[in-house]
Amino acid sequence: RRHLLSVADLDHAQIRTILDTAAEMHGVQQREVKKLPTLRGRTVVNLFFEDSTRTRSSFELAGKWLSADVINISGKGSSTSKGESLRDTVLTVAAMGVDALVIRHSASGAAHQVSQWVDAHVINAGDGTHEHPTQALLDAYTMERRLGSLEGRHVAIVGDLTHSRVVRSNLLCLRTLGARVTLVAPPTLMPAGIGSWAAADGFELSNDLDAVLPTADAVMMLRVQRERMSGGFFPTAREYTVGYGLTRDRLNALMAANPDAVICHPGPMNRGLEIAADAADGAQSLILDQVSAGVAVRMSVLYHLLAGEEGQQ
Ligand code: CP
Repeated sequence: RRHLLSVADLDHAQIRTILDTAAEMHGVQQREVKKLPTLRGRTVVNLFFEDSTRTRSSFELAGKWLSADVINISGKGSSTSKGESLRDTVLTVAAMGVDALVIRHSASGAAHQVSQWVDAHVINAGDGTHEHPTQALLDAYTMERRLGSLEGRHVAIVGDLTHSRVVRSNLLCLRTLGARVTLVAPPTLMPAGIGSWAAADGFELSNDLDAVLPTADAVMMLRVQRERMSGGFFPTAREYTVGYGLTRDRLNALMAANPDAVICHPGPMNRGLEIAADAADGAQSLILDQVSAGVAVRMSVLYHLLAGEEGQQ
């Protein structure tokens, strides 16, 4: 079975195929009647052990607009809360006759593990601090639509790198598409060993957002994930905003240096902490475009995994 567990599993041609199909799906999404018959008779299960608004609902819409049967199971409210293991839960759901499992889990590697247990396509919808591949694909799709090719474009990814699965998937995707990437964070939110990772993979690191902004074509702000910070949040929220928030002053500096620069955020946002309302809601913000693209990109991913696979297994 084919899966989507990591962007590392996709080469340039495969990413291009997913993004090009997403453009066609985006056209369908903008129609009054959105249904395509493509996945009629196929079943997709969204299995979410962590909270989600965008990813879960867009996978549900993506499946439904392709005419698949879609059901949603969350950790809260399922037999997981009675102590059932992940393996038993997954095998139980798979035994009902499922074609694709979309899984979000707090453990890094959970989607990969699940793919070894079931005879269904597995899509990683976020596993711990590891990866969130469809987020990176929708980010690339959204930036390309505004900026054109990302080849040689400078993307600054800013914020809580330590806890971000979005940054890992984005690094892989953006590097494959030829973008220059700078990761910006306070030293306390840089993952251990990131220096050697950066040297090997050819991206840049900085603790100075103001120095990076003037050359950025796209600024991707990451959410400060306080729920994953068991040891407390350092710097303080105030210090973080002063040093690393996309404030009104920084937005003005960005626009002065490059009026065509765009702003992204995977959501959910901590408004007033990592991003000011002027930056989140202005004309340069692609944040709601990212949400819209999420449905089209997930339609594309489901289509490429599930459509026309009879006789190929
Ligand atoms: N970006 C993202 O994964 O958002 P949700 O947690 O709302 O799905």
